[in-house]
Amino acid sequence: RIVYVNGAFLPIETASIPVMDRGFLFGDGIYEVTAVLDGHLIDNEPHLARLERSLGEIDIPNPHSREAWTEIQQALVARNNLSEGLIYLEVTRGVAERDFLSPAGLTPTVVMFTQAKSVRTSAALAKGAAVITVPDLRWARRDIKSTSLLAQVLAKRAAAAAGVNEAWMVEDGTVTEGASSTAFIVTKAGEIVSRPLSHAVLPGVTRRAVLRLVAEKGLTFVERPFTVEEALAAEEAFFTSASSLVMPVTSIDGRPIGGGSPGPLTRELRQLYIEAAL
Ligand code: PDD
Repeated sequence: RIVYVNGAFLPIETASIPVMDRGFLFGDGIYEVTAVLDGHLIDNEPHLARLERSLGEIDIPNPHSREAWTEIQQALVARNNLSEGLIYLEVTRGVAERDFLSPAGLTPTVVMFTQAKSVRTSAALAKGAAVITVPDLRWARRDIKSTSLLAQVLAKRAAAAAGVNEAWMVEDGTVTEGASSTAFIVTKAGEIVSRPLSHAVLPGVTRRAVLRLVAEKGLTFVERPFTVEEALAAEEAFFTSASSLVMPVTSIDGRPIGGGSPGPLTRELRQLYIEAAL
């Protein structure tokens, strides 16, 4: 596998990052994950827009224009012959002697790699994903796609220990989002509900695309927080992300959602999203 580090395309075995990189020492960095289907970057523009915003919010200069980012991403996809999978990119504040404060004028570190995997078909898809709920232990600026992911790692470990696919994080009784996805429910009244954007959640790129499809279909989308009880009583539930696209949820905390199999609306939205993305 060929990876990209600070301007160089290198075999992953020989690529390295200095010990004093602030991404490693402080989680002082930003990342993005874009899906690749049939060799094409999916919804990449909004991912690069979010990258720009996240970097701005923590005062790391964006090392590349959108055009330059896209060129590097496409070059890496080509060098790895990637047909389907993910492309990950990370920008850290750079390398300096360990101190919470960093010297002015650091050069950001840029890393990019691909992961070949099937995105369109997944083991969880046929019977739907099982989800547990966990407390949301994260900081107060979850709109920034920070590489500091300890709370999400713990949530995913809890999900794995429970034998399920994803954890939905709960704060003050309502679901914020999945550990690496945006959470949705479909109510008995047919409303599609997801939390409004704020500092409490990451503004999902896939969420935005799905909302457009929902509007095109003339369905009702309601942006409001929902409780775990509402989710348990929902007709359907699903989550969205670059890595899962639109994933049906068929159980929450061991209790079946809807009929306990992927809902028709969720399946249709997944289909429409994939068709529109290509
Ligand atoms: N995660 N919420 C959180 C906390 C996320 O980490 C992600 C994505 C999303 C969905 O965002 P998008 O639709 O833009 O992928 C929501 C990526 C895939 C990851 O960490 O691997």
